[in-house]
Amino acid sequence: MIQFINVSKRYNDGTSALNDIDLEIKAGELVTLIGPSGCGKTTTMKMINRLVEPTSGQILIEGKDISRINPVELRRNIGYVIQHIGLFPHMTIKENVAVVPKLKGVHRSSYERRIDELMEMVGLNPDQYRDRYPAELSGGQQQRIGVIRALAAEPSIILMDEPFSALDPISREQLQDELIRLQEEVKKTIVFVSHDMDEALKIADRIVIMQSGEIVQMDTPDRILRRPKNDFVRTFIGGNRLHESEQLTVDDVMVDNPVTVSLTRGLAHGAKLMKQFRVTSLLVIDKNRVLKGIVTKESLEKEFRNEDLSLQDIMKLDIPIVQTGTGIAAAVELMRQHGLYSLPVVHPDGSLAGLVTNSSLIDALLKQI
Ligand SMILES: Nc1ncnc2c1ncn2[C@@H]1O[C@H](COP(=O)(O)OP(=O)(O)O)[C@@H](O)[C@H]1O
Ligand SMILES: [Mg+2]
Repeated sequence: MIQFINVSKRYNDGTSALNDIDLEIKAGELVTLIGPSGCGKTTTMKMINRLVEPTSGQILIEGKDISRINPVELRRNIGYVIQHIGLFPHMTIKENVAVVPKLKGVHRSSYERRIDELMEMVGLNPDQYRDRYPAELSGGQQQRIGVIRALAAEPSIILMDEPFSALDPISREQLQDELIRLQEEVKKTIVFVSHDMDEALKIADRIVIMQSGEIVQMDTPDRILRRPKNDFVRTFIGGNRLHESEQLTVDDVMVDNPVTVSLTRGLAHGAKLMKQFRVTSLLVIDKNRVLKGIVTKESLEKEFRNEDLSLQDIMKLDIPIVQTGTGIAAAVELMRQHGLYSLPVVHPDGSLAGLVTNSSLIDALLKQI
């Protein structure tokens, strides 16, 4: 169990980062600290492994005041995963993961077996990946190794500071799912910092919502959704999350697998996709699925003879889009104003979520009747 008792932190430059925090995290619980940038999440987390020392107050782990535990010793028993996990580039995956078990004097055969087990748990075939170097892995795979590295040392506590936020939405979802599964098996005490409410709602046993160095509300995801304590929490969880049935949003009516194509593909490839899927426009995305523009049939036909062009050269850039969660009325109004037959829907990070089309709108409305 981790306990914060009247903990405050003022940095040397006078910044007051935390004001008198009380917090209890139970053994085996996954707690998410969430709040806007600068609210004190990382500060709170780094106090648990003494990367930051409190200005006042006390932090106990299993009832022991951690200011009396040697920080190096303390950190050996607390896993730590950050956004860019920084694997050692000149060591293989296995060597990277083995660093702490070795330091702890774990027998080689037993940690090697454990590393293989953990790799399998996160969907990486050990025979294929254990002797690779970090640069030979994708970003998502490297983050998985980061999680494994934290687990391999068999700590009872794991700290994770926005570990998945640099990943593309698909890998992020996958890693969240894997974390949930992994946690069912290993049952560690996990403190997970996030700024993404959807992520917190998905993975946390309890959510701690922070604002300007204070805890605003601390409860299970369900109770926070049902009884947000104030307007700040309400806004943070996105006002109409619980009222989806009352007001339809673009999420309800969009086609969620519209035809997309990568920026660098050529025009012939674009033409083939249009023919194959019987569409008259293509959504052009980058490798993170961020929507960059639209290629229409007219522009494609007009430029088709030029073999040196790729789709990014002919796409339309200034296209109206809406974010997920936008009400249908607003979307329809936008389509009417611009004379559009379709309207792309993007996640807050700009990645493509779907496409509202005239026919998808009609389908959704017919279902309502
Ligand atoms: N080393 C530091 N020195 C001075 N101020 C800091 C330091 N680290 C963080 N802060 C400040 O403390 C506040 C909380 O920061 P942080 O805990 O990193 O927030 P979060 O992780 O929620 O974005 C911010 O105002 C930040 O600028
Ligand atoms: Mg932070």
